[in-house]
Amino acid sequence: MTDNILKAAKLIKEQGNVIALTGAGVSVESGIPPFRGKGGLWEKFDPMEYADIDSFRKNPEKIWDVFLMEKKATIDKARPNDAHKGLALLERIDLLKGIITSNIDGLHQAAGSINVVEFHGNLATYSCIDCHKMFGSSTLKSDTGPPVCECGGFLKPNCIFFGEAINPIVLKRAEYMIANCKVLLIAGSSLVVEPSSSIPFEAKSNGAKIIEINAEPTEMTSSVTDIFIRAKAGETLNQIIYLINKMIVS
Ligand code: APR
Ligand code: ZN
Repeated sequence: MTDNILKAAKLIKEQGNVIALTGAGVSVESGIPPFRGKGGLWEKFDPMEYADIDSFRKNPEKIWDVFLMEKKATIDKARPNDAHKGLALLERIDLLKGIITSNIDGLHQAAGSINVVEFHGNLATYSCIDCHKMFGSSTLKSDTGPPVCECGGFLKPNCIFFGEAINPIVLKRAEYMIANCKVLLIAGSSLVVEPSSSIPFEAKSNGAKIIEINAEPTEMTSSVTDIFIRAKAGETLNQIIYLINKMIVS
């Protein structure tokens, strides 16, 4: 167990008021590939061709059959791992106040987390790109090709594609959480995509301490991060929870 894990556990236990900022890296141990780095989705698919709203409008079948079905298949099979469960436990013992995530897999909620802000939405509901009528995922019948609305428009999952704006209410919630946190716990985010990439600066300027758990260092590691833990999120959260438990009972 490294010194930095001990420092992180003490900081979380003493300060409380933790906000977590998570990315695809926390779901890797649930079998969902990240976007960047070794085995990342963007090595296989060009994001501008498969995750951009204009490309979806031009060729919904291709995006649905090739990208969305693969993404949905991995997510449908995935279960929360120790990183999701550890963050849910920290919320239950009132040390963590909420999670801001760029993930669309719903695994934080499946692990029991309550206050979860999803920057990029999720795959639980779908909307017609023409009349904007909303549908639950249970209404999806076709396994191939995008489902079609009664009005003839194609359905798109309610996750944010490149070129789409993030819901302003979601941004406001995240802003409030960051303005009031004492510790920002970054886990599994490459911090290269806005608005996630500006959150560490905002938190730091509000006086928060920054803990970063990542498999690789990021742009923030040497400039903004106070405690960097280069390890898998699941095992690290396990160790942090174990140490906090020891502090509580001693
Ligand atoms: N434990 C901790 N960190 C991990 C693990 C792991 N087991 N595996 C990978 N990582 C780290 C990587 O080092 C990287 O920093 O998780 C991060 C994953 O980065 P990305 O794949 O870029 O995912 P993310 O940061 O969520 O991407 C943000 O970019 O393309 C868009 O919409 C997409 O929401 C996504 C956004
Ligand atoms: Zn419609």
